[in-house]
Amino acid sequence: MDYRKLCLNAIDIIHKTGEYIKRESQAFTQQMVETKSHNSFVSYVDLKAEQRLVDGLDKLLPEAGFITEEETIRKSGEVFNWVIDPLDGTTNFIHGLPVYSISVALMENGKPVIGIVYEVERHETFYTWVNGAAYRNGYKINVSSSPTLSESLLATGFPYHDFAIMDSYFEILKELLPNTRGLRRMGSAAIDLAYVACGRFDAYFEYGLSHWDVAAGAFLVQQAGGVAGRFEENSKHSTGDQILASNGKIHQEILSIITEKMMASE
Ligand code: IPD
Ligand code: CA
Ligand code: CA
Repeated sequence: MDYRKLCLNAIDIIHKTGEYIKRESQAFTQQMVETKSHNSFVSYVDLKAEQRLVDGLDKLLPEAGFITEEETIRKSGEVFNWVIDPLDGTTNFIHGLPVYSISVALMENGKPVIGIVYEVERHETFYTWVNGAAYRNGYKINVSSSPTLSESLLATGFPYHDFAIMDSYFEILKELLPNTRGLRRMGSAAIDLAYVACGRFDAYFEYGLSHWDVAAGAFLVQQAGGVAGRFEENSKHSTGDQILASNGKIHQEILSIITEKMMASE
């Protein structure tokens, strides 16, 4: 399998889909939004974008199946599966904020072999394939080299639908805010991870995520020399999926704060 070629061909499909999303953003209004569940929104743009991605990627690798957020296709692959979030940052998109992305990963026997995050409005493509390097628009990228939290800029996603562990989340923020250069909430998990991969952020954490939010971005972070994984292995809380991604150097420092605050609330 020529993963590099497959990755570059997938990027072409993603770019065309990005053009579609950008075009639609011009005439988009709040009336076109549907609510899936509390604070979870979807529009025809998410659905159409996903269909375009699925059509293109299905032709590219007919034996592959799909795990997609909007479930426009039901097809499972024995070996290969694409994991797709056609529009990551829908809340930004529907409010006219220019921070959203397309996230596509290819899994082979459950392990990532390609990861692509395309930040549409900045026309920045972050991509990697197994045994290759990680890139941003053709340039190799690496995680940052910040050795301590005090020299680090972090990203997170505020809780917006699962408020069960909100108190411990705020305890974590209380510890991090005075001891870092600050925290950002971009509104697209895939972008947060891509920015850790290229060193803009030193770390990112969030809970309540889904596979398609993080599959491509977590692989990008690992391929760029960082660490990405769950932050809580033994907690009694059922928090859904979660991620802590970092440059590796500050991983333990943040992990200790997160686990200490989580445990304190149990
Ligand atoms: C959301 C974004 C957001 C994160 C949420 C995700 P969506 O994805 O990645 O940054 O905080 O957890 O669900 O709904 O815009 O695809
Ligand atoms: Ca998402
Ligand atoms: Ca989405």
